[in-house]
Amino acid sequence: MRDPGVSIRENFFTEQVEILKGPASSFAGRGTTGGAINIVTKQATDRDFYNAESTLGTDATRRITIDANQVITPTLSMRVDGILRRILPERGAVRSHRAGPGRLLDCASQILEQEIRGLKSTMLICVPKVLSKADVAEFLGVMDACEWEDGRSTAGAQSAMAKNNEQLPPDSTAARQLGERVIRALTANPLFISAAIPLHIFPPLFNRYGAGHHFGVHVDNAVRGDHLTGMRLRTDLSVTLFLSEPDAYDGGELIVEDRYGSHAVKLPAGDLVLYPASSLHMVSPVTRGVRVASFFWLQSMIRDAHARSLIFDLDTAIQGLVERIGRDDPQTVRLTGIYHNLIRYWAEA
Ligand code: NI
Repeated sequence: MRDPGVSIRENFFTEQVEILKGPASSFAGRGTTGGAINIVTKQATDRDFYNAESTLGTDATRRITIDANQVITPTLSMRVDGILRRILPERGAVRSHRAGPGRLLDCASQILEQEIRGLKSTMLICVPKVLSKADVAEFLGVMDACEWEDGRSTAGAQSAMAKNNEQLPPDSTAARQLGERVIRALTANPLFISAAIPLHIFPPLFNRYGAGHHFGVHVDNAVRGDHLTGMRLRTDLSVTLFLSEPDAYDGGELIVEDRYGSHAVKLPAGDLVLYPASSLHMVSPVTRGVRVASFFWLQSMIRDAHARSLIFDLDTAIQGLVERIGRDDPQTVRLTGIYHNLIRYWAEA
């Protein structure tokens, strides 16, 4: 067994763990000169049994394992082990799906590991209550009185073909003033700052999907320029700030695809979701009502998504410790130092 890094290994199918000291390359492959750990999986035996175990935990954790052995003939036995496991991501109303039948049901621990890493690596982060309900109502009032234009004016060549919606003219006074208010709200939001570590935030745009509107699968342009401010940024993260309540329209989910499946997001008005700009994503067709949102991009000081995710996890853990043992505890102080030093190490500004 060779792991590229620290990982969580499901052990429901493990019979024993063998630790082989000394060079083991002849049968365990290169890279095992210091020894090898061999995980022996469960074997069929000559007696019948049926075991099941269940676990319930925080963060909607559900885990059920089964282990069954059936003697078929005196010389043939069969052993079946399975696991059904569900863990919700740490924040927000993001649902994770695995495509195809047998969702989350698999006997191979490798796939479970991918599932767990998959939830982490999607990096869909929901930030609640960026705008108050009163702010949202005021935004919608201002926008109602505006002229809207075809959404394709800000799309790249590929995404223009997939895009079918309306947007506020990006250079209009209304778009600029509301955009500035969004940015002020973002910079005062600790969760947003912690998750994004923004270097530049693109002036927010506003779009509207009525019945029949949608935005097909696309990837956002890698670089965005704003001719009014001269700002040019690399799009590390995409942001959708929902301005319509979910019950005001049907459809209109933001769907972000990655190799682990698709993730559908539809948040209360005033909440936003951060997702990798490099991801394939789409807005499913609106079939009733109107979906108004603000959308924009940002360049993070931490370009590497994995590094950014680690820093965010560390900050989340520190905030949890601060609540339990206080900000002045020597260990909290040390961890906070590590947090800042990791940013110092990785940040490009
Ligand atoms: Ni997009």
